[in-house]
Amino acid sequence: MSAPRHIPLIVLGVGNVGRAFLAQLMQTRQKLVDRYDVDLQPVALADSRSAVMNTEGLSPNAVEAVITAKKNGQSLAGQPGSLGSITAHDLVAHAAEAGLQHAIVIDTTAADGMEQALSAALNQGYGLVLANKRPLAGSWETTRHFFASTRVRFEATVGAGLPVNSTLRYLIDTGDTVYRIEGALSGTLGYLCSRLEDGEAFSSVVTTAKERGYTEPDPRDDLSGMDVARKALILGRLAGWPMELKDLRVDPLYPDEMADITVEAFMAQLPDLDTAFAAYMGSLAGVPRYMAEITPDGGVVSFKMVGERLAAELRGTRNQVSFTTQRYADMPLTLLGPGGGMDVTAAAVLQDCLYLAHSMC
Ligand SMILES: NC(=O)c1ccc[n+]([C@@H]2O[C@H](COP(=O)([O-])OP(=O)(O)OC[C@H]3O[C@@H](n4cnc5c(N)ncnc54)[C@H](OP(=O)(O)O)[C@@H]3O)[C@@H](O)[C@H]2O)c1
Repeated sequence: MSAPRHIPLIVLGVGNVGRAFLAQLMQTRQKLVDRYDVDLQPVALADSRSAVMNTEGLSPNAVEAVITAKKNGQSLAGQPGSLGSITAHDLVAHAAEAGLQHAIVIDTTAADGMEQALSAALNQGYGLVLANKRPLAGSWETTRHFFASTRVRFEATVGAGLPVNSTLRYLIDTGDTVYRIEGALSGTLGYLCSRLEDGEAFSSVVTTAKERGYTEPDPRDDLSGMDVARKALILGRLAGWPMELKDLRVDPLYPDEMADITVEAFMAQLPDLDTAFAAYMGSLAGVPRYMAEITPDGGVVSFKMVGERLAAELRGTRNQVSFTTQRYADMPLTLLGPGGGMDVTAAAVLQDCLYLAHSMC
């Protein structure tokens, strides 16, 4: 029997998604060796300040120790095998100097400014797997190489566990023409819409969602619509439309005056919006959902009235995306299912890694 092909993995970000991915990988790794002779082997794990690395491969115990340390809120700086203070860019350079080949760099951070490290990895011949939307949502000029490369995958960035990006790739790669993409792309905003529909006050819905961890620590990261806009932009660019964020009209769920105050002040001022929100919801003839609609000419990310049937399908945190194309003109090709959850998000990252492992060498 031949030795399995080792694919070194460099994981940037060991938060919720990074840890779920590593746990899933460690459970699945041997099955992938048995089935495909491919061994996805973590060699470096990084947080915002440091990294642990072993170019020969981190042992399962070392990976488990990192998962536990990060779950307990510790920095990787004090862990065995730590490289001390190191940036993601320097970590990639370090891996290259150490002669690491056919590696896959996985961005499971939520950080801005990862483009330099990711581009360096791509130039090094490495593959990239992204759960982080931000590197794909900068200017078209600085991101187009990510969309053009067959070594870059980012299934988890849109629809979490729904195969949204791979379906769109399939349509484009087989010569279909996409006319329009529409979707409910935020589990968090789906949850908020469902509760508002039930008659709950806006401030109460947001406060509960924040307390339960459904929103980001600053709920404006969700309520601004920017997270949905980034997903819409990724879909548009993947469809072949060289769009910019400014081509999308994005309607936030709070007034401009509340954009730059502290989180505490924002939460305290939320009840001021309740009356206006209740009046707005009462004035609507239909059921509102927070939707993205994009065409080659741009798009809108906003509340939209949807029919009772779709509204029922979109209760809670579900996501839905429909593609209207030349081939799917009368009835759009539609995906519907859970919009979040660590297991399905981790699986999307793992599937991307396996795809690259098969295709890169
Ligand atoms: N939650 C979902 O269901 C879901 C679904 C799809 C996609 N995503 C995306 O997945 C990504 C990760 O989400 P999450 O919930 O896991 O975030 P998180 O818990 O905040 O974890 C982020 C991790 O990234 C690390 N980090 C930050 N800046 C870094 C840098 N410059 N270099 C290396 N590591 C860095 C952080 O380090 P420290 O520990 O030192 O702060 C932390 O370990 C996000 O982009 C999110 O949008 C999430």
